[in-house]
Amino acid sequence: METMAAEGKCVAHHEGRVVFATGCAPGDTADIELTRIKSSFLEGRAVRITALSPDRSQPFCQHFGLCGGCSWQHINYATQLKYKQQQVIDNLERIGGLDLPPVTPIIGSELQQHYRNRLDFTFTASRWMTREELDAGGTMGQPGLGFHIPKMYDRVFDVHTCHLMPDEIDVLRNRVRDVAIKNDIPFFDLRRQIGYLRTLTIRRTTAGNLMIILQVAYDEPKWLEIILNEIAEHHPSATSINYIINGKRNDTFHDLNIVTWKGESWITEYMSRPTGEGSLQFRIGPKSFYQTNSQQAAVLYHAAWKLAGIKSTDLVYDLYTGTGTIANYVAADSKKVIGLEYVAAAVEDARINSSLNGNSNTEFYAGDMKDLLNDEFLSVHGRPDVIITDPPRAGMHGDVVKMLAKAGAERIVYISCNPATQARDLKLLCENYRIEAVQPVDMFPQTMHVENIVLLTKK
Ligand SMILES: C[S@@+](CC[C@H](N)C(=O)[O-])C[C@H]1O[C@@H](n2cnc3c(N)ncnc32)[C@H](O)[C@@H]1O
Repeated sequence: METMAAEGKCVAHHEGRVVFATGCAPGDTADIELTRIKSSFLEGRAVRITALSPDRSQPFCQHFGLCGGCSWQHINYATQLKYKQQQVIDNLERIGGLDLPPVTPIIGSELQQHYRNRLDFTFTASRWMTREELDAGGTMGQPGLGFHIPKMYDRVFDVHTCHLMPDEIDVLRNRVRDVAIKNDIPFFDLRRQIGYLRTLTIRRTTAGNLMIILQVAYDEPKWLEIILNEIAEHHPSATSINYIINGKRNDTFHDLNIVTWKGESWITEYMSRPTGEGSLQFRIGPKSFYQTNSQQAAVLYHAAWKLAGIKSTDLVYDLYTGTGTIANYVAADSKKVIGLEYVAAAVEDARINSSLNGNSNTEFYAGDMKDLLNDEFLSVHGRPDVIITDPPRAGMHGDVVKMLAKAGAERIVYISCNPATQARDLKLLCENYRIEAVQPVDMFPQTMHVENIVLLTKK
């Protein structure tokens, strides 16, 4: 296997055609069983590794291979970083057709396990059984609480240990599953859409406070009490315990009422600046986005702040602001910061975050970016000197990219968790802007995902 492709598959060549393979590592020699044959490429999976790559590492998780989470844990961290850096360059050059300055080396994450602050687990009335479990006499139809198997919306395997959050989270999740089974509380059947327990979301601050969000299908107070009491009794660090009644066909809850059963309806994260000059605090509600690797979020913001080069006379727009984290990070250096965000609850948090951090020069507005950011908004609020934009994986809507070009800021800092959509957007922006710097950052060790910051200056 010669290298790694953008989606995390290994790449080799066979008789002039490129081969994309799963189940191996770059540097391996492997026998590949082909699953797709096209005139220009072949796809397959490794059925036998005949020589192991020197870049391999021993997988640490018992669920490796089944879980979609840490699919790169068989590759050592230095090699992961090398391929992430390459992924950024490939996307920007191939999809964007962009001329790049030298790309600064990727900033690795100090924590390579236990780095996440949020996990979403799904209850299932019939958990996925592995071949080994079935061979050992296991039967189908057992309840479970865990993660979806990649690309299978109705297949969930039971998680015993997950190395993405600290051990306490394993204890809590396994306790919830066990108490539900002991009390005959029905787990949800994803195919038939019947049952009671749907999802369990756990968020954690660096200081160890937990937010719990339990989703159930209908109102049954005695079952809710059993589960939530069990959590409250054994996990005093759970300072925000919430539940949601969700009778919909899907598990998204941005449009549902959240009931705080015990404690506060938020958790507070503290972030130290890597320079050591002061710290910030952010209130995070159940519906609000927060960067999932808290420690590395400070590194990401610091890198973006450095690239932004904000002056005390600058009007800054922070697009896709979430709970106003970046807006507050840069507020002290700016004349004024305007944050825009879709989720109204996150905007409320953003305003509170400004007062918690003593920033009186921020303003936040809620709405869909493509509707909110228009000519009228620019004439009412003023043209920005600096724009920081941090859209979701899908990147920016075409109309937003056009408005960015029109707004005419001197500098744009574009943060992205998907270099492919970032490349697409940059291609358009580069009609008016030039790329000054590219800084990849690893927010997601053991996965193929990479974050990237690009600084653009007006031509
Ligand atoms: C990658 S997050 C970045 C949040 C924030 N900058 C941070 O660092 O925490 C993207 C944010 O964009 C928001 N968002 C997604 N689609 C949007 C849209 N169409 N209009 C406005 N905001 C949107 C999400 O709710 C989320 O808060």
